[in-house]
Amino acid sequence: MTYPLTTIILAAGKGTRMPSKNPKALQTVLGEAMLSHVYTVAKSISNEVYTVVGYKADMVKEHLLKNHGEEALQRTIFQEEQLGTGHAVQCAMKKIKEINSQENQKILILNADVPLISKELLIDFIKKSENLPLSFISLYLPDAKSYGRVVRKEFLSKAKHTPCTKHEENKGEVEKIIEAKDFNVLYPQSEIFEVNSGIYLVDAQLLYEFLPLLSSQNANHEYYITDIIGLAKERNISLEAFCFENAEALLGVNNPLELNEAEKTLQKAINTKLMANGVVLHNQESIFISPFAEISAGVEIYGPCEIYGNSKIAQYTSIESHCYIKNTQIGESCIVKSFCHFEDAIVGNNAKLGPYARLRPQAELADNVHLGNFVEIKKSKIGNASKVNHLSYIGDSLVGSGVNVGAGCITCNYDGKNKFQTIIEDNAFLGSNCAFVAPVTIGKNSLVAAGSTITKDIPENRLAIARERQVNLNKKNKG
Ligand code: UD1
Ligand code: CA
Repeated sequence: MTYPLTTIILAAGKGTRMPSKNPKALQTVLGEAMLSHVYTVAKSISNEVYTVVGYKADMVKEHLLKNHGEEALQRTIFQEEQLGTGHAVQCAMKKIKEINSQENQKILILNADVPLISKELLIDFIKKSENLPLSFISLYLPDAKSYGRVVRKEFLSKAKHTPCTKHEENKGEVEKIIEAKDFNVLYPQSEIFEVNSGIYLVDAQLLYEFLPLLSSQNANHEYYITDIIGLAKERNISLEAFCFENAEALLGVNNPLELNEAEKTLQKAINTKLMANGVVLHNQESIFISPFAEISAGVEIYGPCEIYGNSKIAQYTSIESHCYIKNTQIGESCIVKSFCHFEDAIVGNNAKLGPYARLRPQAELADNVHLGNFVEIKKSKIGNASKVNHLSYIGDSLVGSGVNVGAGCITCNYDGKNKFQTIIEDNAFLGSNCAFVAPVTIGKNSLVAAGSTITKDIPENRLAIARERQVNLNKKNKG
C-alpha cells in the first residue's frame, strides 16, 4: 500500500569521506547501490519518489533508469552545486512546486546514505506523525560521531553543560538540531546521545515557508535541512522527534568502515531470516545475499558465496563455495559446484554445473543440463539434457536437446565486426576440439569428428569430418 506522500531522496553528495570513482549513493551494500535500497523502500510506501542528484549525476541517473525504470529517471532533480542538505531540499521543492501544486502534500525526506531503512519502520513513523506538521526520526547512539544532536529543553535550560550530559539530561520538548561540528564548538565539554537520523516528514507548506530562511552561517558553511526544526520551534509549530529503538536500521554510511558495518548488519538479518525459513547456510558469515534475491526453503549454500540482484534459487538446489551469482534464476534440485560465475542467466531444474562454469547474460539452460569446468555460455539456449562438459565456449547459439558437446568445442561467433548464430540440433554429437564458424547449422543426430573446423551446414544424420586425414610416414634415417 502506498501513502499519498511525496518522497525526496537526497543523493547528490560526493562522499568525501569515502573516495571512489562512484558517487556515494552508488556504493553497494550486498551488491545493491545504497540508493537502490532506499529507492525500493520509498517506492513501496509513497506514490511519488524524487531523487536529488548532483555529483556524477549522469552515473546516478543511468543507475536509476537501469534499475528502477523511466519514472525514476524522470523524477530526478539536479543540484548543480552541493551546498548542503537544505539546499538539496530547496532544489527539490522548486521542481515539485512546478509539477505538483497540491498544497496539502506531505513530504518524506530520506538520505541515500541510510541504506538499511525498512518499510515497516517508515510506516510506523508515518502513522505516529499523522497529526503533526513536522516530525523526524531520532536514535540513541553510544558514540554520536558526526550525527546532528537532538537538543531538548532540559539540556538547553542548564546553565553549565559540564560534565558530559547523560541520556536523562536531554529531556523535554525538542528545541532544535545542532550539527556535530557546531555542537562541539558550542558545548565543547558536553555530549548528547540522541541524534538525528536524517528522516523527516513535513508538510509541503512548511517547507515552502522555511526553506528560504535557511542560512549557511555554520561550521560547514552549508545550508542544513536540520535548521527547519529550530525555525519551526521558534514559531510554535508542533513537532516531534520519534526515537526508534532499532538504531541499526537508521545508521548513516559515510566511510568504508560504516559501509562494512551496514553490510554486516544486513547480511546477518537476511541470513537469519533465510535460515529461519529453511535455507541451510554453511559458513554463513561468508555468505552474502541481496535482499532482492529469493532463496527457497530446502536450498543449501556453502560459503564463501555471493548471490546478488534479483536472483532466484528454487528448492533442493545446492550451491557450493566460491560461487558468484547475479540476477540469475536457478531451478529445483540443481547442483552448482564451486567457483561458478553466473550473471543474468536462467537455469532449469536438475542441472549439474561446474566447477568453474560461467554463464553470461542471456544464457538459458533447460532442465537436466550438465556444464563442466571452464565452460562459458553467452546469449545461448541449451536444450534439455544436453551436456557441455569441458573447456568450451558456446556463444549466440541454439543448442537442442540431448546434444553432447565434446571437450574444447568453440563456436566462432564473431568476425571482428558482427556476431553470428550457431544452431546445433537435437541429439547431435560434437567430437572434441571442434570449431564451428558461424553462421552454421549442425543437423539432428549428426556426428562431427574430433578436431573439425565446420564452416558449412551439416544436414541431419551425417558424419562430418573437416580436417586433414592423418598420414603416418616413414621416418627418414639420420645420416
Ligand atoms: C546528515 C544530517 C545529520 C544527521 C545525518 C544522519 C544535515 C545537515 N545533517 O548529516 O543531522 O545526523 O545526516 O545520517 O542534514 N546531500 C545532497 N546535497 C548536498 C549535501 C548532501 O544531496 O548538498 C545528500 C548526501 O548525498 C547524503 C545526504 O544528503 O545522501 C546526507 O548528507 P551528508 O553529507 O552525508 O550528511 P551528514 O553529515 O551525514
Ligand atoms: Ca551521511
